[in-house]
Amino acid sequence: MIYLDYASTTPIRKEVLDTYTMLLSKYYGNSDSLHDIGRESARLMEQSRANIAQLFHVQKDEIFFTSCASESNNYATKAYAWANQRKGKHLITTCVEHSSITNAMKQLEESFGFEVTYLPVNEKGVVSLEDLKKALRKDTILVSMMMINNETGAINPIKECADYVHQNSRAAFHMDGVQALGKIPVDLKDVDMATFSAHKIYGLKGSALFYKKKNIQVLPLISGGQQEEGLRAGTSNAPADIVLAKTLRLALESLNDNYTYVKKLNTWLREALSTCEDIVINSPEVTSPYILNISVLCIGSEVMLNALNDKGFAVSAQSTCSSKSKAISHVLLEMGLGELRATHAIRISMSHMTTMEELELFVKAIKEVIHDYRTK
Ligand SMILES: Cc1ncc(COP(=O)(O)O)c(C=O)c1O
Repeated sequence: MIYLDYASTTPIRKEVLDTYTMLLSKYYGNSDSLHDIGRESARLMEQSRANIAQLFHVQKDEIFFTSCASESNNYATKAYAWANQRKGKHLITTCVEHSSITNAMKQLEESFGFEVTYLPVNEKGVVSLEDLKKALRKDTILVSMMMINNETGAINPIKECADYVHQNSRAAFHMDGVQALGKIPVDLKDVDMATFSAHKIYGLKGSALFYKKKNIQVLPLISGGQQEEGLRAGTSNAPADIVLAKTLRLALESLNDNYTYVKKLNTWLREALSTCEDIVINSPEVTSPYILNISVLCIGSEVMLNALNDKGFAVSAQSTCSSKSKAISHVLLEMGLGELRATHAIRISMSHMTTMEELELFVKAIKEVIHDYRTK
């Protein structure tokens, strides 16, 4: 099987797996226990937190371990909104966020009396500062925006938007950086909160980060013990938290080389596919090269996915978290690309592990599927 679904998840890096396997058997102690076995787990966890903070150039007590980016996004929205609602009940996000932001925002609207403005995107899938300026109000307490869109690779002007929010309001700025980490440089000094996931950077599933600046207040989402400054109770997943520092270091070390390599792959693939009849490219030119979104106009997403799967290729249609909902990409609809493209979309996501040969085989396979469909 040729894997072209790296935006959905990545295989674990061998060095990470080896370290994790060692940690699992050696550091089983509860990091909150007062004996030496527990203390050693705690020491390594805190060392990992410090290393992660150093890699991001932030403070150690601004880094929180969570179980997935969806959880981190819930801290940045619900936990933040509940803690700050006395300052105002207006929130801003975009209409193309991951479901973990959109559904948290919906819950805040429907069950907790918040008002949410969903910023539109242009035909390139990007938010405009002008729209943000219009939406920002005196009672806005939060702006949440993804850095790279998970379906199209579109890149938002995070610094520009965050700077405007900070200079013109009391609102906090949250960035969902899941698809950006390890792919393009991420600067946490621009934002108040951020979200990252280990399984998108060749790390473990069930392991993620929530960053928040010290002055940012959030309520606990899991009440109980003292873990993670009392914000997230439950026995810590020490081995996963410990190995996350190494996962992150390795991902950042190879960022530039990988980017250059994947950009070449993307350029080749974009060109090869754009010459195919019936294929239109949905990802704008200036995007993350790791994602290429296309529509095969004569074949619906699900049929295409299955046909490619039968030929030995793993790709997605939209965000994997929405793969069981209606087979229409709301992201492409919001970009104004129309229903046909939104129901016929395929997301190809690449990595440094992708080879040119794999892409050549992929282009051959997609052409065969189109040909077979036409001549049926
Ligand atoms: C932009 C974005 N945010 C959040 C998530 C959720 O990540 P996790 O699977 O770690 O919950 C994803 C996963 O695809 C994503 O692409």
